[in-house]
Amino acid sequence: MRRTEALRSLVRETELSPGDLVWPLFAVPGERVRNAVKSMPGVFQLSVDELVAEAQAGFEAGVRSVILFGVPDKKDAVGSGAYDEDGIIPRAIRALKKGVPGLVVMTDVCMCEYTDHGHCGILRTPKAGIPESVWRRAQGQPDEAALERAGSTRGRSLIAPPRSEHPQGQPDEAAPERAGGLGGQYPPSMMSVENDATLPLLAKEAIAHAKAGADIVAPSDMMDGRVAAIRKGLDETGYGDVPILSYAAKFAGAFYGPFRDAAESAPREGAGIPKDRKGYQMDPGNVREALREVALDVAEGADMVMVKPAVPYLDIVRLVKDRFELPVAAYHVSGEYAMIKAAAERGWIDEDRVALEMMLCCRRAGADLVLTYYAKHVAGLLTGNGR
Ligand code: PBG
Repeated sequence: MRRTEALRSLVRETELSPGDLVWPLFAVPGERVRNAVKSMPGVFQLSVDELVAEAQAGFEAGVRSVILFGVPDKKDAVGSGAYDEDGIIPRAIRALKKGVPGLVVMTDVCMCEYTDHGHCGILRTPKAGIPESVWRRAQGQPDEAALERAGSTRGRSLIAPPRSEHPQGQPDEAAPERAGGLGGQYPPSMMSVENDATLPLLAKEAIAHAKAGADIVAPSDMMDGRVAAIRKGLDETGYGDVPILSYAAKFAGAFYGPFRDAAESAPREGAGIPKDRKGYQMDPGNVREALREVALDVAEGADMVMVKPAVPYLDIVRLVKDRFELPVAAYHVSGEYAMIKAAAERGWIDEDRVALEMMLCCRRAGADLVLTYYAKHVAGLLTGNGR
């Protein structure tokens, strides 16, 4: 049964088609901007006009879905650019909807590209000398009403999301002297991401994307309770039919480095700022916890769930596929892409065949859709329409 391609295709259990692929694109301000991302050959930061042209080329090659990431003009402590209705992502969505009708436009919902400290939520200081509320007001951070809403979201969700404290280590007594790396705007001591106060901001961001015409919103921040908060926000503002693809099992590994170059979203160095995302993303050793994360997101109203990264975590993809009845997405992330590119550049592997095989294996493990920087390239290989 393996003798000819026709025989093999008769008994092949898994197929890969361009319709399974989602192409991540990076939007930046300006016009005619095409900044090559060094650690991701073939990937660019694109101004909105260029982004539309790129999406159009992808569409012609067979890619019918994109997911957008934004690099804003300005960053601040509370990620204001994330929920600005005229921000980079809403502008990109409107242009894409007009320029490439028929394209599915998904958006990444997170704070890390928009905060000056680079974390996926807003920071608080647990043991600073300054009372938190005073510091918050001084920073122009979310008002009492916003915090109130975060509370009520939790109260009314299907299940109460677990409260996690995300300890980031001991307070740093020497920090006051070293503070100032970020203009001294952060209180001195070790800070951590403030889960519940971030929720209303994520909901606002998702609503801004939906208003601009996003087909699907995809929260990647890993805050507890954010799917419920976003679902409620969308439902109350008339966007009940916008589905949520949750990055449900997102692992804090080493595979996201190149992306952080592209999105300019790596955690900044500064007194008290957590160095990594281990306080909110998952530990790579955990399987049962991944299933619990997925179950929580499903209960909160996720329409699709994602496992990320993809290939090193295909065991998780398979388990999620077998246990839940929702579409499963796998994110073939920047580090996975960069590794293939690097080996191919040296002539050590056949890039086309390896890329196709990686995508097929994601599908075989149970992924219904695969997010990949190879989307256009692989779609071109599959349809013969690449350029
Ligand atoms: C935002 C986000 C990240 C990725 C997708 N959304 C980066 C991160 O968690 O630091 C990574 C994607 C990739 O590496 O390709 N939180």
